[in-house]
Amino acid sequence: MKLFLDSADPKEIEALVATGLIDGVTTNPTLAAKTGLSFFDSLAAICKMVPGSVSAEVTAITANEMIAEGKKLTAIAPNITVKVPLTWDGLRACKTLSDAGHTVNVTLCFSPNQALLAAKAGATYISPFVGRLDDGGHDGMELIREIREIYDNYDFRTEILAASIRHATHVREAALAGADVATLPPSVFKALIHHPLTDKGLAAFLEDWKRGGQSIL
Ligand code: G3P
Repeated sequence: MKLFLDSADPKEIEALVATGLIDGVTTNPTLAAKTGLSFFDSLAAICKMVPGSVSAEVTAITANEMIAEGKKLTAIAPNITVKVPLTWDGLRACKTLSDAGHTVNVTLCFSPNQALLAAKAGATYISPFVGRLDDGGHDGMELIREIREIYDNYDFRTEILAASIRHATHVREAALAGADVATLPPSVFKALIHHPLTDKGLAAFLEDWKRGGQSIL
């Protein structure tokens, strides 16, 4: 499963890209506004530090304006993915942009039927919002499982990008459900590695080794 960071902050992304385990980045208008930085400058910086897809979301609501915004965003760097909302205009923009060879991430997906439409529109990625469904008392991971089954039934190439991830359990469940990508807030990515038995076991290994008085170098 590919791991993306869900952030528009070049500094926090750079620190985690250094792990060598980040495959891409997703941003959205809320994350971009939160940084207080120039949208275009921060995207250009992020595209330079991240090897894979960097999603930049349009803010227009008509298909023609989304297409114009999308083309302007793709000019920033070759690894820009245009993010469009799951509306009829967003799907029309998706079809036009993907037919022109651009990668498109269709976002704000909350149902399998929406995901089916996005795949038929040529989406490169579909972003089902797991956490927001859970927040409302629904089973967000069930959506991932149903999209996986539908896409496999018809060999759709659209990649399932599990989004709105709230904690490390979502990452495990998304991987078990067969998501192609999970996009994680930096705090969730950092939490993935922690287990108390690992910390305890390493301390014991090093303590026992130290008592033996030998060294490797
Ligand atoms: O960026 C898309 C998605 O990850 C947003 O998540 O936390 O705002 O529900 P959230």
